[in-house]
Amino acid sequence: MSALLEVRNLQVRVEEREILHGLSLTVNKGEVHAIMGPNGSGKSTLSHVIAGKPGYEVTGGEILFKGEDLLEMSPDERAAKGVFLAFQYPVEIPGVATMTFLRTALNAQRKARGESEYSTPDFLKKVRAVAASLNIPQEMLRRGVNVGFSGGEKKRNEVLQMGLFEPSLCILDEMDSGLDIDALRIAADGVNALRSSERAMVVITHYQRLLNYIVPDFVHVMSKGRVVKSGGKELALELEEKGYAQFEEQAA
Ligand SMILES: Nc1ncnc2c1ncn2[C@@H]1O[C@H](COP(=O)(O)OP(=O)(O)OP(=O)(O)O)[C@@H](O)[C@H]1O
Ligand SMILES: [Mg+2]
Repeated sequence: MSALLEVRNLQVRVEEREILHGLSLTVNKGEVHAIMGPNGSGKSTLSHVIAGKPGYEVTGGEILFKGEDLLEMSPDERAAKGVFLAFQYPVEIPGVATMTFLRTALNAQRKARGESEYSTPDFLKKVRAVAASLNIPQEMLRRGVNVGFSGGEKKRNEVLQMGLFEPSLCILDEMDSGLDIDALRIAADGVNALRSSERAMVVITHYQRLLNYIVPDFVHVMSKGRVVKSGGKELALELEEKGYAQFEEQAA
């Protein structure tokens, strides 16, 4: 059986500069992977390239998702196939109510998969249930997407999208940044509720603390555009203790 996500020897350039230098990562269904690594090591770049954000030039390697060439697909196709990225810096979309955005995005994905669109009552029921579980007030859903949301509210809105879209690969880029202690627990509960044998998660974080809530099966250390070490959850504790210096030497 093929892996859910297979990144092989990926090389990526941004504005003539190579950012990822031969990165490989295999994620199977049911697994939770954490990616840690110093600022600028390429974690967000990797997540953007998987989601299909424009502006990145793949100069080598490949990405397979469910055995298919992901790099050949448009960002919409990737989302419909089950790729979801919770952004480190969620974008604001003024003039588009969060509720409208969620409904349009969800129905577009369902349509692309050949599934029927949600009826208004069914959609409302679903969005209300997921929002309530994440402590997101109804009033926020009427506001423009992320417009005037606090940092923590934006992060919770990303987890809300994830809960609604039910993707098969969830990439969470620094979901914990800006969340207060209670919100962190609520958001982590929301993520854990989505853990299943049919789904995988890639959790990018700087802090071991998040991994107490979302316990990973594997931890990878990225340095200078590569995965330089992989291990179990104990690797995160080792990093907290010793820092990244030992791995940076290896990557150089
Ligand atoms: N659009 C861009 N133009 C120029 N350089 C870029 C661009 N996007 C990323 N980079 C560079 O690529 C490198 C990797 O950035 P990236 O955001 O992937 O790091 P990161 O590991 O997510 O860091 P952090 O932990 O700070 O979020 C950085 O040196 C960054 O400046
Ligand atoms: Mg980043």
